[in-house]
Amino acid sequence: MRVIRSVRSIQQFIKKAKLAGKTVGFVPTMGALHDGHRSLLRRCRRENDIVVLSVFVNPGQFGPKEDFAKYPRREQTDKKLAKKEKVDIMFLPSVKEMYPGGYLTYIDVEKMTRVLCGKSRPGHFKGVTTVVGKLLNIVMPDTLYLGQKDAQQAAALTRMTRDLNFPVIVKICPTVREADGLAMSSRNQYLTERARGEAAVLYRSLKEGRQSVIAGNHSVTAIICKIRSRITRESSGRIDYVECVDAGTVMPLKKIQGKTMIALAVWFGKTRLIDNIIVHA
Ligand code: PAJ
Repeated sequence: MRVIRSVRSIQQFIKKAKLAGKTVGFVPTMGALHDGHRSLLRRCRRENDIVVLSVFVNPGQFGPKEDFAKYPRREQTDKKLAKKEKVDIMFLPSVKEMYPGGYLTYIDVEKMTRVLCGKSRPGHFKGVTTVVGKLLNIVMPDTLYLGQKDAQQAAALTRMTRDLNFPVIVKICPTVREADGLAMSSRNQYLTERARGEAAVLYRSLKEGRQSVIAGNHSVTAIICKIRSRITRESSGRIDYVECVDAGTVMPLKKIQGKTMIALAVWFGKTRLIDNIIVHA
């Protein structure tokens, strides 16, 4: 595995690989790698000649009061895990390499980034689309692998690649969960033991919501109510939102129909967890 830190070196390497006819798959991350990231890397490994993993804690997507400074950084363990997953290139740029002085250019996917997480994290998705747009120009992959865990991010990035004609195929991989159903996340390690136990209610409540839709309940308010009351009953979590949205556009629905996503965000102490589930109605 090669560890590359400069934009110029990785671009040179990729250009050569492409001239030799190799396919390039790309998994962007912020590190503190877990089994969710690993599932993306494995699929990328199966489907491409060259696997590129980036680890970059992107300051552009953290709000001023968010956890940028304390976000877990685990370069050594991430390297070991990347080697184990047969990554060819681990791209580890510095903040200066990605955002040299005088940086002024941003990508903003409108509308669909203003709902759900976009409401409580203004500017967050602009940071995500900008950094992934830059990474796509740096890595020039044939295929980009993203997780369904961050469904709104995946939807916005898919839209960005379409709207701006990035020559890349986007593949969205299923959410990997802990044994009790909690979606894996680098932020789970912030949870106290008590909150960690309680957090399993999120997926339980989403499954209950999905069951209810399958049983014929197509009322958005009824489903949201059911989920909210279960979370409040069974945990100390503070609900940010619970919403039923169109799975493709992530825009809120009046009535549950077609491919629907039930999405939620809940605070446990200072840690905000998100999860979602898809149901076909
Ligand atoms: P990060 O949270 O490190 O996640 C990197 C990728 O792993 C994302 O596509 C995310 O959806 C996926 N992922 C995270 N947890 C997962 C899980 N439990 N199951 C399946 N996939 C999972 O998302 C980011 O980083 C950043 O916003 C990034 C796209 C790298 C831009 O900075």
